[in-house]
Amino acid sequence: MTNKTSPTDTGFLSDVQTLRARARKHIEEGAVTGNYGADRDTVLKLLNEALATELVCVLRYRRHHFMAKGIHAEPIAAEFKIHADEEQAHADQIAARIVQLGGEPDFSPDGLAARSHSEYVEGDSLKDMIRENLVAERVAIESYLEMIQYLGDRDPTTRRMLEGILAVEEEHADELADMLSSE
Ligand SMILES: [Fe+2]
Ligand SMILES: [Fe+2]
Repeated sequence: MTNKTSPTDTGFLSDVQTLRARARKHIEEGAVTGNYGADRDTVLKLLNEALATELVCVLRYRRHHFMAKGIHAEPIAAEFKIHADEEQAHADQIAARIVQLGGEPDFSPDGLAARSHSEYVEGDSLKDMIRENLVAERVAIESYLEMIQYLGDRDPTTRRMLEGILAVEEEHADELADMLSSE
């Protein structure tokens, strides 16, 4: 590293020595440095709720994938499976971030539904299933928006991850709304 663009010159970053000393001091904290601006316990709690939400969505979509019946069922059942897999990928991303922040991902089935923001509703008809999934997606969208607002610039990495997930939940909701209107 050269000192050509020394952060001290810009006046808004800590000088290199201070940054290096701080990074060394709490080395056991891994990716979490002294400049981490959010309340870590709060972020970990929020992320574990998001993890539970994603896991409940995986279970609901998978149930619907296997139970979808009727004349229009086949493409919709296939879409439910795609959504289930995407929710699983979200759960994995969130769990990895929890560990990166020094926490532990809560995969316990005990209390899973209570930790989740969205609900596990089986639904009787294909239309019910689509509607329940749309409700769950809208709940997820709301809660991710709130988390993103809370994080702001305090934890940009977690915020960016959640923004990516949010964009997919919006696509899911959009697809489900289209299915409902074409039913
Ligand atoms: Fe998701
Ligand atoms: Fe989703």
